[in-house]
Parts: sequence; structure tokens; C-alpha cells
Amino acid sequence: MKFFVDTANLDQIREAQDLGVLDGVTTNPSLMAKEGITGAKNILQHYVDICNIVDGDVSAEVIATDYEGMVKEGKELAALHDQIVVKLPMIKDGIKAAKHFNDIGIKTNVTLIFSAGQALLAAKAGATYVSPFLGRLDDVSTDGLSLIAEIRQIYDNYGFETQILAASIRHTMHIIDCAKIGADVITSPLSSINGLLKHPLTDIGLEKFLADYKKGN
Ligand code: E4P
Repeated sequence: MKFFVDTANLDQIREAQDLGVLDGVTTNPSLMAKEGITGAKNILQHYVDICNIVDGDVSAEVIATDYEGMVKEGKELAALHDQIVVKLPMIKDGIKAAKHFNDIGIKTNVTLIFSAGQALLAAKAGATYVSPFLGRLDDVSTDGLSLIAEIRQIYDNYGFETQILAASIRHTMHIIDCAKIGADVITSPLSSINGLLKHPLTDIGLEKFLADYKKGN
């Protein structure tokens, strides 16, 4: 299972990379805006900065919503760095663009997936990744994890190579449940990845081991 961090914050990306378990980064226009990165030039430079920190795929989202615009923008993004994955919205032209990029060997991440049918279409188009947003489904009283399980079953039934990139992760249990279901990748805030480190019995156990060591020395 791959671990991506879902942020445009360079310090957090460095921290996740330093932990040694990071396989990639996802961003979106909202995450860029949160870091105060605005304007096409700054955004493009920020993608390069991210690629220079992390080993692995870095999703960069197109802003265009028409086929020609997505293809043009996607090519510009892909030319920035060989780690860039072109992130496309789950709309008709996004699917057409995913097919085009698959044909010319550019990796894609089809984002804003909220149904199994959308994930099936994206896989048919040859998307490298699909991003089902499980937290946003949970937010509207719909079981996000069930969607991950449905997509897993469909992809396994037909041997689709598209990777399930579970997105909109809210907490550590989402990560653990995605691992049980067999999501290929999770993209998560750093806080949820760090949350996996914690158990009070680990802290209590370590404290006792150190205290007992000191008694004998
Ligand atoms: C995925 O690539 C998105 O950036 C992200 O996971 C969205 O999550 P949110 O629902 O926390 O905004």
C-alpha cells in the first residue's frame, strides 16, 4: 500500500519524506490556496519544489474543464517534471483527456470520484489512479468505505490496473480500513499518518523499559 500526503505545505511534505514512508503527494487548487500559492507561475514552481522533495508521484490538477484545455494544460504540467501525474476532474471531457494521456504515456489521476460507475469509466479510459473521496461521502451520511470496497471488487473482477487512491481521508481508522479493503494508495493529511504512530501502551512500555534499565546501571 502506498502512502501519499495530501498537502501543498512543503514543511509537512519534508516531514513525511523524512519519516521514510512517503510514496507521493496529492494537491488540489484548494490546498494550494491554503498555502497562499496563487498565480499560474507560482503554482507551477510549487509543483517543481514538491517534486524535488519527494520520491514518487505528485498529482498536479488542471484548471481547464474542456477537453482541449485539459490536454494543453496537462501537457504543460507533465513537462514540468517526470514525477508529475496529471489530475483530471471526473467529467466527460476529463475521461476523454484521461484516454488521450494514457495513449501518449502520461500518468493521470481522475479525481472527485463519488460512485463505482465513475471509477469504472475512469479505469476503462486507462487512468493510472482514481481518487474516491471517502471523507466527503461520510460527511453526507454515505459510507465512503463501501465505495472503496465496491471499486476494489470491480477492478479485481476484470483485472483493471488503475490504482485506487483513497482520498479525503479524515483520520487513522480510514487508513486502516482502506488497508483492510485493499486500496492501492491512501492520500492523507500528515496528522493522520502521524496518528498511526501512537499507542499509550507503547509509551508506558518504553518508560518502564528505560526505568528498569536505569535501576541496573
Ligand atoms: C485528493 O486528492 C484531494 O486533494 C483530497 O483528498 C480532498 O480531501 P478533502 O475532502 O479533505 O478536501
